[in-house]
Amino acid sequence: MSPPKETVTVRFAQEADKQQWLDRWELYNQFYKRTVPANVTAEQWRRFLDPASPVYCAVAVNSEMPEGANVVGFVTWLPHIYTGSIEDIVYLHDLWSDVTQRNGGTGRKLIEFVYQDSKEKGIKSVYWHTQHFNHPAQLLYTKVGNKTDFVQYKHDL
Ligand SMILES: CC(C)(COP(=O)(O)OP(=O)(O)OC[C@H]1O[C@@H](n2cnc3c(N)ncnc32)[C@H](O)[C@@H]1OP(=O)(O)O)[C@@H](O)C(=O)NCCC(=O)NCCS
Repeated sequence: MSPPKETVTVRFAQEADKQQWLDRWELYNQFYKRTVPANVTAEQWRRFLDPASPVYCAVAVNSEMPEGANVVGFVTWLPHIYTGSIEDIVYLHDLWSDVTQRNGGTGRKLIEFVYQDSKEKGIKSVYWHTQHFNHPAQLLYTKVGNKTDFVQYKHDL
């Protein structure tokens, strides 16, 4: 059953959200079958809360759940220089919606928060990647964005 959409709102992450974010970050890492070292996780969280660091995190909060246990998703994003415009563009990096919240509008609200924040920063484009087999995510993405014809390559150094 889908949760009622109106009880979920999105706001920037705060210090008090740390444990709830960590719990979800762990689930997200499990989803990607990866291990992120504790010091790397700690540094990401520090950056999210550091106004001098241009990487952001917002959390979805369900008002029907008790304070301290009401975070139900998160998104991270970062603006960067783009050679095709004077303005930065935004890379939407991580997106997670709790299993209990899926198909209730939480993922869409998280993405729309990034759109709104980017707009307020004068940014005109937000982009992201997903795995070609991540069909649940693409059911949402096809409604909030346009699929490009780019394929990603990578070389680790
Ligand atoms: C991807 C993810 C964030 C989506 O979160 P969510 O809370 O389910 O997202 P929403 O409920 O806002 O959107 C789901 C959309 O898919 C649509 N959808 C679901 N099943 C569908 C189906 N069978 N046919 C058509 N549309 C369908 C829903 O209708 C909804 O669209 P709507 O906003 O127009 O109603 C979530 O599945 C997740 O966290 N997955 C694991 C991690 C992950 O994949 N992250 C993204 C990595 S790129």
